[in-house]
Amino acid sequence: MIVRLPAFTVAGTLSSDAREDFLLVVQPNEPVDLAAALRLHSRWISEMLLAYGGILFRGFGVDSPSTMRRVAEAAYERAMPYTGGNLPRQTVEKGVYTSDEISSQYRITPHYAMSYARTWPARLAFACVTPAKRGGRMPLCSGRRLMKHLHPKIVDEFERRRVSYVRMYADGVGPATNQRQTWAQCYQTESRTDVETFCRLNGIELEWLPSGGLRTRQTGHGVAPHPITGERIFFNHAHLLHTSAWPTAESDATRAAAIRQFLTTFPEEKAYYNVTFGDGGKMSVPVLDEVRRVIAEARVTFDWQRGDFLLLDNMLVLHGREEFSGDRLILSAHGDPCSYKGAAPLCA
Ligand SMILES: [Fe+2]
Repeated sequence: MIVRLPAFTVAGTLSSDAREDFLLVVQPNEPVDLAAALRLHSRWISEMLLAYGGILFRGFGVDSPSTMRRVAEAAYERAMPYTGGNLPRQTVEKGVYTSDEISSQYRITPHYAMSYARTWPARLAFACVTPAKRGGRMPLCSGRRLMKHLHPKIVDEFERRRVSYVRMYADGVGPATNQRQTWAQCYQTESRTDVETFCRLNGIELEWLPSGGLRTRQTGHGVAPHPITGERIFFNHAHLLHTSAWPTAESDATRAAAIRQFLTTFPEEKAYYNVTFGDGGKMSVPVLDEVRRVIAEARVTFDWQRGDFLLLDNMLVLHGREEFSGDRLILSAHGDPCSYKGAAPLCA
């Protein structure tokens, strides 16, 4: 497929088979300012995001936090801060963060950004400043393919019962992945009043603990309609944040043993995340294993190159991270906050 526009040319797709084309790869015709090109072709980009889930812009030199900020702002209607997120990150520029600070020996299973929250980014951008020496690729999974291959009973149950996330922040126990944050890191403030205001506005119940820590509970979607196409999307973090998903660098058998050992020592309520259905019911580990299996089978990966800029529709593409060695700096920025008031989408 060759599509040539004034600023760039479509070189192909990251993955293509009889059933689906997934993720466009775009290259510049000649040296071009990507922010200007995104504005010039904004309508075409919106159409392509809906058709292909995401676009990898390669060869545009998005290799610094300041360039990332400028380009991401051109890709969004509205930037969105990463407040209340589940991963530790560092802010490198207003609205631009490191993609994660999870220890390099662990992989991160593909997921949608902030699908546990009442408001999540409709668009998500990444830029590669430094590719890893080895590994560190980004697995991507088509949300449409996930829906196609998940058993309808699983989808229906998650849609009906929704998903609850009880979070313990730094007081919680779990694997040493650097995943735990203090509440101050998570909400980017030292003020309890600010945390309380944020939680009230975002439908998060909270409880201050005698230790000075915090416990929160929020219930999010199990399945959400795409705000533009109306497609049903399996949109939640259960497969990633449930204790059965705890990442380890070891084999699955060793991991299962480590989790069993943990659960005999600590109640699940002590875990830094405890995921249940919205009605409080426990989730079935084989069902969550099935979700992870389908995601693993559907995933495609690519090697980052310095200067790559990746723009995703956050309700059509799940993203993750492979283990890596060496320095690696991938930046991320969230945009176009999206939520639902009843059945009506409220998006930027
Ligand atoms: Fe993520």
